Amino acid sequence: MASLTKTYSTEKLQGKIYTPAFIIEKILDDAGYTGKNILGKSILDPACGDGRFLVEMARRIIKVSPLPELKSHLQKIHGWDIDPLAVQQARKKLDSLVEPLGIRVDWSLKVQNALHQTAEPDLFNPEAESGKFDFIVGNPPYIRIQHLPLNERRYIQRHFRFCQSGSTDIFIAFFELALRLAKDHGTIGFITPNTYFYTETARPLRQYLVQQKLIP
Ligand SMILES: C[S@@+](CC[C@H](N)C(=O)[O-])C[C@H]1O[C@@H](n2cnc3c(N)ncnc32)[C@H](O)[C@@H]1O
Repeated sequence: MASLTKTYSTEKLQGKIYTPAFIIEKILDDAGYTGKNILGKSILDPACGDGRFLVEMARRIIKVSPLPELKSHLQKIHGWDIDPLAVQQARKKLDSLVEPLGIRVDWSLKVQNALHQTAEPDLFNPEAESGKFDFIVGNPPYIRIQHLPLNERRYIQRHFRFCQSGSTDIFIAFFELALRLAKDHGTIGFITPNTYFYTETARPLRQYLVQQKLIP
């Protein structure tokens, strides 16, 4: 009830609370996105904002990549965001990171609603690995779905199995999206609230993670 009567800032309603550097580093470290192991691996931040995760990924690649292959390794970094301004800022930050190296990169960035990428194979009927990612990381938006426009709420409930009951949060849909888009041996590292450990509405997500033995 409280959430229906409280007022929220625009930033909160759009899920725009950006992540501090030490958390980004921890998530990438914990996911195993470290050392030479990362070369040639695809990585996606599906709600990249102004590119904080992307810049740290690029720094790590620059440290270990031989120069001739640097561009192609950097293009394995993918960033999506619904906010065109945020994507523009991300591109600028990435450009200024590589400018001193004398290279220009055609960054794999897209302005798009990540949750509308549902043409991907269904979570429970996985197909080929193409178009999927080795790593999916980030700080997805946290927005109770009753705070979304009605058509978006209905879209999420229709397309995401873990969001069909009750009042859920958009970050649960991002978990489902990441599970669909990760390769078989891929790794997901998100910073989210921990409410999905115990809420009734997150039960389908918990059951799936346990049944599929997806928590190391
Ligand atoms: C919590 S911020 C995180 C930004 C960045 N990953 C970071 O850690 O600093 C969430 C981002 O999600 C974006 N966003 C909200 N809904 C989205 C959607 N449906 N698809 C893609 N991005 C979305 C917002 O524009 C915002 O930039």
